[in-house]
Amino acid sequence: MPPLYDKLLLRAIRREAVPRRPLWIMRQAGRYLPEYREFRQKHSFKELAGDPALAAEVTLMPLKRFPLDAAIVFADIMSPMPALGIEFDFDPGPVVAKPIRDAAGIERLRHPAPAEIAPEVIEALKLTRAALPASTALLGFCGAPWTLAAYLIEGRGAKDFPTLRAFAAAEPALLDALLGRLSSLMGEYLLQQAAAGADAVQIFDSWAGLLSRASWEKLIRPHLVTLLEIVGSVGVPRILFLQNAPHLVDAYASLPAEVLGVDWRVELPALQQRYPERAVQGNLEPAILTAGAAPTRAAARELLATTAARGHIVNLGHGILPQTPLASVEALVEVVHSEEL
Ligand code: CP3
Repeated sequence: MPPLYDKLLLRAIRREAVPRRPLWIMRQAGRYLPEYREFRQKHSFKELAGDPALAAEVTLMPLKRFPLDAAIVFADIMSPMPALGIEFDFDPGPVVAKPIRDAAGIERLRHPAPAEIAPEVIEALKLTRAALPASTALLGFCGAPWTLAAYLIEGRGAKDFPTLRAFAAAEPALLDALLGRLSSLMGEYLLQQAAAGADAVQIFDSWAGLLSRASWEKLIRPHLVTLLEIVGSVGVPRILFLQNAPHLVDAYASLPAEVLGVDWRVELPALQQRYPERAVQGNLEPAILTAGAAPTRAAARELLATTAARGHIVNLGHGILPQTPLASVEALVEVVHSEEL
């Protein structure tokens, strides 16, 4: 039996009645915060994410300013890649030194012991958990196998990832081998995160939408299922986030995850109607927050009015943009907190 007064986020994930909806914000510890920008004057992103004490401090930054219902550990989807022997930098997104383009690239990948997978992130989770109030959830996360493969094969973020899509067409067996390695690595990584105190985990499939549904079914689905089942085996709740893939929403809704997170292109009310047993997360358009407090307040009210409260975690539809005024976040918090269910 779950505790009677468990964290709001976990109660919403279980689709229990809540006094108000939980709220957290993707990229909540980021450049829209002046204190984060100040930290970045002294340290690179890699230094911050690589040092557990600094990472825990950054993780807590947005919570000091806003009464959010979850903290998400400050790291990147690429953080576990050094365990495979992959070298990369940020400019500002990930840039991989030697992109994987052939069988040798996959054979070179190391087989790390579980304790070698981003130990700094595991330590940051432990430090954060110790500092968080009991009512605030702690989220772990990882990149979905396909989204990670996108960076490993393309080498960096690119419009529509043409090298990746060509590789998927020309070398499906190699792609399958790479996705297999990534799904077991991410499964192991998320188990470690849960053991370190993560209350739930989010799997980011930011580039899910690059393939047709038929190619997705063939190439990607089996690996996502493997990853989700590894995590499901220990009972830690799974938030599956897909971005810019309206044609795949129903495919993702059929996967074993407690929560489906979607971007602002997807209509949450229709999603709730089609999948009444599934908790949903999202999905304010991040650009609206850059327009200021008044448009944010209007959009947040509209979201609450149209989306059923049961099983709804309020969030943006993608990461908060660096130019977002703090007043917009305040307005969002105020609207969500003033709802009485
Ligand atoms: O949400 C959070 O606050 C937790 C931390 C977090 C980061 N990256 C920190 C970060 C999370 C959850 C991520 C996930 C991530 N990283 C994704 C999936 C989510 C998404 O945005 O679709 C992806 C695709 C990446 C890869 C990545 N890392 C990109 C594209 C970039 C550049 C982004 C940008 O806005 O410039 C990064 C770097 C990065 N990761 C930053 C942060 C705070 C910016 C670092 C900086 O310059 O300070």
